[in-house]
Amino acid sequence: MRKTFTTISLTIGILASFAQNNNSKLQKKTNNFTLENQISKIEESEPVKRKCGTPALNSSYEEAFQAMMQKNEQFANGKKSAVVYNIPIIFHIIHTGQAVGTSATVPTRNLNAAFINSQIAALNADYRKLNTDFTTYVTQSTFIANSSDIQINFCAAKVSPTGATLAEPGIDRVLASSKSLTGTTWSMSYIESNVKPATSWDPTKYYNVFVLEFGGADAGTLGYAQFPTVTSSGTPTIGDLAGFGGAANTDGVALDWHYTGLNNDGTYNKGRTLTHETGHWLGLYHIWGDDGSACSGSDNVADTPNQGGENYTCPSTNGAVVTDACSSTSPGVNYQNYMDYSDDKCMVMFTAGQKARMQAVMASCARRTSLNTSTVCTIPNSIDENNSNVEMSLFPNPTNGELNITIDLLNAQDFTISVINTLGQTVKEVKQTQSNGGTIKIDLSSNSAGVYFVTLKSKTISKTKRIILQ
Ligand code: ARG
Ligand code: ZN
Ligand code: CA
Repeated sequence: MRKTFTTISLTIGILASFAQNNNSKLQKKTNNFTLENQISKIEESEPVKRKCGTPALNSSYEEAFQAMMQKNEQFANGKKSAVVYNIPIIFHIIHTGQAVGTSATVPTRNLNAAFINSQIAALNADYRKLNTDFTTYVTQSTFIANSSDIQINFCAAKVSPTGATLAEPGIDRVLASSKSLTGTTWSMSYIESNVKPATSWDPTKYYNVFVLEFGGADAGTLGYAQFPTVTSSGTPTIGDLAGFGGAANTDGVALDWHYTGLNNDGTYNKGRTLTHETGHWLGLYHIWGDDGSACSGSDNVADTPNQGGENYTCPSTNGAVVTDACSSTSPGVNYQNYMDYSDDKCMVMFTAGQKARMQAVMASCARRTSLNTSTVCTIPNSIDENNSNVEMSLFPNPTNGELNITIDLLNAQDFTISVINTLGQTVKEVKQTQSNGGTIKIDLSSNSAGVYFVTLKSKTISKTKRIILQ
């Protein structure tokens, strides 16, 4: 039922856009679309609608996206509203030898921590609907009702992929030449094939933000994002999106340093370029539907009004209704939306429909779901959780009651062996002082059958293994 409906609506969208784009190029079908075979016929001749390099909807991608959202809504039930996702973020500040800036107001290419911290704070305010400028710029009751707390939080990574504690949370300073990067400013194609692969950290654990300076063919770009992977896709790198999904080592957002954090730019000074790009990275399209200024394009979000083209500057600075040919009556267009192109000052909201897309991405997409359980924002305590110098073997396992625990420590120390049930209750405990280990017998025959954890703990080591009591 639902599939048919989506297929039909996409077909209508495509037919409508054919009418609008007589000279549009045909997109080559490059991806293997497996989820919804019936739509692949349509996408073979899918026209690409472009303006200023922004890409059109990819129908196969969007079909899979819709299916994913539907699944998320079905399974999430009442729990969904309570989910706050956490995303560890790392800013790779890629410089060409500049010293770390010292001013809190004037950014320099090797941005100091103050700019990164203000960027993280802005991102969190915007994604938790804690931005205080909302009431100034939004007066339309419909938009007030639709505006949403996205329930996504960003934390500064504290540990590097090798486990080292970062000198500055959330910051990885990279001298370009140390990664064999040439030149000083870069085009998207150089960033995709060289800069990102050379500097990216495991994208299943970190949200990678590449802070750099755009140049060449892409001079003047503020930033661009890679869409989440829903289906595999080979859509070319264009505009401020790098494909519909893509490779792991190019995942993330590239951001020009001038527009990072609370800075002194006259227009893009509130960190909202990253709010906008993060919206793409979490599956949002531009609010006007990337159809030039036609009324046929859609961002596939039901509660954002149909909008002609993008807005620049602030169409109103007091939250007044602004209409256009596609939304000619109040409440008008949502120029205050983060997914428009308005100035930072007046882009202040996401809607509930946009939230549904982003929450579905966090619940289902590769390199997004794993971020929420990534531990890189926490410095591990000094206990070595997986000490390879320590041997602890348990036998027999499964056991009927008698358990032999053989421990081999390098040097004598005080340690405790605890047997813990699945409720976290310690059911047996053995302490040894200044011991190198040996074999310790524990009798579990009076305990109920089930799974237990045996933990060996000293001042510096901790090792846990699982046993089954029959
Ligand atoms: N991707 C857009 C660009 O490069 C970013 C728009 C962000 N808008 C803003 N007010 N910060 O042009
Ligand atoms: Zn954009
Ligand atoms: Ca439009």
